Amino acid sequence: MTTDKCIRAVVAGVGSCLPVRRVTNADLEKTVDTTSEWIAQRTGIHNRYIAGEGETTSTLATGAAAKALAAAGLTADAVDLIIVATATPDYTFPATATQVQAALGITRGAAFDLQAVCSGFVYAVTVAEKFIVTGSSTCALVIGAETFSRILDWNDRTTCVLFGDGAGAMVLQAAPGTGTIADRGVLTSHLRSDGRHREKLYVDGGPSATGTVGHLRMSGREVFRHAVGMVTDVMTDAFAATGLSADDLDWFVPHQANERIIDASAEKLGIDPAKIVKTVALHGNTSAASIPLALAAAVEDGRIKAGDLVMIEAMGGGFTWGAAIIRW
Ligand code: UT7
Repeated sequence: MTTDKCIRAVVAGVGSCLPVRRVTNADLEKTVDTTSEWIAQRTGIHNRYIAGEGETTSTLATGAAAKALAAAGLTADAVDLIIVATATPDYTFPATATQVQAALGITRGAAFDLQAVCSGFVYAVTVAEKFIVTGSSTCALVIGAETFSRILDWNDRTTCVLFGDGAGAMVLQAAPGTGTIADRGVLTSHLRSDGRHREKLYVDGGPSATGTVGHLRMSGREVFRHAVGMVTDVMTDAFAATGLSADDLDWFVPHQANERIIDASAEKLGIDPAKIVKTVALHGNTSAASIPLALAAAVEDGRIKAGDLVMIEAMGGGFTWGAAIIRW
């Protein structure tokens, strides 16, 4: 860490948007060969939201973005970069991000989608931070938005009970820093991927391979087996890069796939359970949206405050995984 003056990407506001329809485990029992108890015990999930007619990834993303801008006290004309992390775009192209841009009335800067499945938000924060610290952008909307309900095989009980729809957004703004870990902003980020694991979590369709959209396929037990080791590896990298430790964190905001993975990861690194933000019970696994949905919940209820040290991490299809430490 240097003490030279530098630019930081600082969180100015967060926001979230969920579909209107909430679906409980008991609701799913009526159409899927499952039980509320199995879902709750194996995953910690109790509810998820499912997009209805007229609700798409871009409408949810736009809703979350508008709330994040309002929370930041900014209007859309401040934004010069939009990144939407999604594996469920409205269309193959144009990018969902350009549709969010148009819906917000923004006609300058750049907008693009980023595809890293459940790790998408950590990837998008990392990319936006690079744009900001190099001076390419001054105000970025970083959005995780998904409608996984549209790529689920509702006859596959091993996957369809796990996922939900939603969007979360974060405004990152350029601000001067000192180059030390006392600065506000994204302090460090670490991304990894290993494409050899494709078969464990993938969608069996796509424009080039099949000309179809396809359905999500997952060997849950195999993903679970890798998840804890992978996320704790990158979290360890984030601690090493900053000299920070688990005790320094105020909040741990992990990807919300399974409560057992979250708890095991926190325990392995000695993170106090009281510091874990969990929304998996409320939203299910919303892929790239899960971290910003959790961040928005914890900011809105007053847990995360300016100056707090927040660790985010995720792991998902690819495999991809990553972690970042942000001073709020
Ligand atoms: O976000 C991207 C990353 N994704 C993840 O992190 C997901 C990681 N994986 C997981 O969270 C867990 O592996 C699952 C929640 C998907 C599954 O939990 P598990 O403890 O690994 O269960 P399992 O796959 O070993 O299945 C246990 C049993 C099986 O029955 P048998 O073979 O033991 O008789 C399944 O058939 O549970 C059965 N089962 C179900 N039972 C009722 C599977 N799905 C269901 C269901 N309802 N929905």
